[in-house]
Amino acid sequence: MTSREVREKYIKFFTSSPRNHKEISPAPLVLENDPTTLFTSSGMQPLVPYLMGEPHAEGKRLVNSQPALRAHGLTSDDTEEVGDNRHTTFFEMLGNWSLGDYFKKEQLAWFFEFLIDKKEGLGLEPEKLYISVFEGNEFVPRDNESVEIWKKVFESAGVVAKENERIFAYPAKKNWWSMTGTPDQMGVGDIGGPDSEVFYDFGEELKIHENSVYKEDPCHPNCECGRFLEIGNSVFIQYKKVGDGKFDELPQKNVDFGGGLERLTAAAKRDPDVFNTDLFAKEIEAIEKVSGESYQDAYKPLMRIISDHLKSAAFLIDAGVVPSNKEKGYILRKFLRRSAIKMRKLKGDFGADDFAKVSEAVFETYDGLYLDKKKIGEINRVISEEIGKFGNTIERGLKEIEKIQKIDAQKAFDLYQSYGFPLEITREIFAEKGQTIDLEEYKKEFEKHRELSRTTSAGVFKGGLADYSPEVIKLHTATHLLLASLRKVLGEHIGQKGQNITKERARFDFSNLEKLTGEELKKVEGTINDVIDKDLPVNFKVMPKEEAEDTGAVHAFNEKYGDTVKVYYVGESLEDAISREFCGGPHVTHTGEIGHVRIGKQEKIGAGLIRIYAFVD
Ligand code: ALA
Repeated sequence: MTSREVREKYIKFFTSSPRNHKEISPAPLVLENDPTTLFTSSGMQPLVPYLMGEPHAEGKRLVNSQPALRAHGLTSDDTEEVGDNRHTTFFEMLGNWSLGDYFKKEQLAWFFEFLIDKKEGLGLEPEKLYISVFEGNEFVPRDNESVEIWKKVFESAGVVAKENERIFAYPAKKNWWSMTGTPDQMGVGDIGGPDSEVFYDFGEELKIHENSVYKEDPCHPNCECGRFLEIGNSVFIQYKKVGDGKFDELPQKNVDFGGGLERLTAAAKRDPDVFNTDLFAKEIEAIEKVSGESYQDAYKPLMRIISDHLKSAAFLIDAGVVPSNKEKGYILRKFLRRSAIKMRKLKGDFGADDFAKVSEAVFETYDGLYLDKKKIGEINRVISEEIGKFGNTIERGLKEIEKIQKIDAQKAFDLYQSYGFPLEITREIFAEKGQTIDLEEYKKEFEKHRELSRTTSAGVFKGGLADYSPEVIKLHTATHLLLASLRKVLGEHIGQKGQNITKERARFDFSNLEKLTGEELKKVEGTINDVIDKDLPVNFKVMPKEEAEDTGAVHAFNEKYGDTVKVYYVGESLEDAISREFCGGPHVTHTGEIGHVRIGKQEKIGAGLIRIYAFVD
């Protein structure tokens, strides 16, 4: 079964009766206009407001396939795990959601049916499926309800499912899900809940366990050896953190299911290596060709890392990211340079052409789906420039590394400054020698050199996940007022070019030839605060994209929107609104909640590009 078939079957299964889900467009992978998030890293991420109770235009049962990237932050970074049979940074998450509609009984039975049904599903053997549930903690009880449901579900397929044989209970580290991690790691306002995972058993006969460093451990579904592959996770998003150790029940009980397409396809093929699926086959083949080596033994991890990283790089560049020292650009740079280091191990002397062959394979795989082959030239230009630059310093950098007896933060930073070695690569090289680098110290070095903006240190190092704190929400509405006021004072030619919001401030980029005069700035600030003083309502309407465009609502140029969009407006009605924007929210409900907006620094950051910082006092 190919990945296309798995994807289609899943969507069809959940849109058809009696499940009746609506398929929704996936969110963009790279988020230009989201307050604090760099990438979409799960299917539920764009749905947070709806899981919290906002009505969704398409109803209460949703399904899609969401391209996702787990490459930054603490809880959503899989970069270092790539190299085994199942971890990737880019992946597609098949997801279905119940927004306060069906719950555990339906979800667990439906997903099971999808897995085992020979016609409508994947036709997996029920006796090869294993289950994990939440064992409970001081806030939330053990998920006995799911245990009982699973017993019945297996029984209906003729399998006796006993606890500790087929159904296993694990602590929050394994069976609690939120965007920010375990109950302890979650911030106030974050939502999450217990979850239940399904694993496919590839069996001892594959000798995965015997080859593994974990061979002494007794094997169980969550064993790291790779014999059991997690192929789907049903999260019961039921709780909101309201304080230290305090959780409130959400107004609705939700289901958030996610299953990796790569892994489900691997299970459908009865092959535990996701890099053997058609989602990687062309790339691995290209790497074999350029290196002259075959995909086996010690070459496997190298080829997996190269194929994963170059795939993620192709998607990032396609979305407009260019290699740089900051945020998304840094992550792209890391992917490309790490691939270069691995390619060097594989091939010795390598060139940009080798990389071009691999990215062509990525485009073959996703052509017409997420990528367009016509754009390959552009992608390869960016890659070749970056690889070329790094290629010039890589040998000297490695020689320098050989001279270092004991690595420390400053030396690691010098390796980046002088030879372009990203921290992650240096860390990996020295980890092989049993040496570590103090991350806090490294961060200080970086900040000293002002290479990293405050957001990046907060974002890249701390998580940078969607932040729905009151501070961010106020600043988010404030940026809508800022754009409307800029257009009022300077003219309709003003368009938003970028935005980044943290709890402390909003950074807003827009098109204008020159910086604003002091008087213009005052006028803009005054216009915003007048709207705040009027305490106007902030509302949204969901409508077809064309209709939304006819209202004159503004939208960021680089965003890809679905057929149905949300238009947020400030004022009594959409027609008389002083601001209308395509936007996912969330926002304050009345402008008065914002308090007072102050415009801070202003910079010219490029030709016809101005940056303004705004604060809420
Ligand atoms: N949101 C859940 C996950 O990402 C399904 O695993």
